[in-house]
Amino acid sequence: MKDLSNETITQLVDAALEVRARARAPYSGFLVGAAILDLEGRIHVGCNVENASYGLSVCAERHAVAAAVAARARGVQALAVATGTSPPVTPCGACRQVLAEFGDFPVVLANPDGEQKITSVAELLPDAFGPESLVKSEE
Ligand code: THU
Repeated sequence: MKDLSNETITQLVDAALEVRARARAPYSGFLVGAAILDLEGRIHVGCNVENASYGLSVCAERHAVAAAVAARARGVQALAVATGTSPPVTPCGACRQVLAEFGDFPVVLANPDGEQKITSVAELLPDAFGPESLVKSEE
């Protein structure tokens, strides 16, 4: 896992904060923005989009993953997640599983007040079930 420069962290966090302002969260009022840095150095963003049928709401992280895949990203170098909380929160369990599909990379948790914490996918989801877990059985 490559170390991120301060400049890269700032760019990624700024992108997550910016897209957070466009989140659609009329039911929870909890705005989340996420930004993925792909292997080519491009940034892909996503925000949470809630639905009146609450269970259909989708998290910011998973929308950022979808945007990266749709833009033909070859892989993920890092992720920033922006929330309005102090301290900034970590991704939910479902998002951790989706992120783990793309390997282990740094995850920067941030808020608009400049608080930041850097963790990683493997720290957030140790012993993850992943593509390599799908060994074919002989049955
Ligand atoms: N949410 C995210 O976007 N990411 C997370 O990792 C946690 C939760 C959203 C879902 C919902 O729209 C709102 O935050 C409250 O749960």
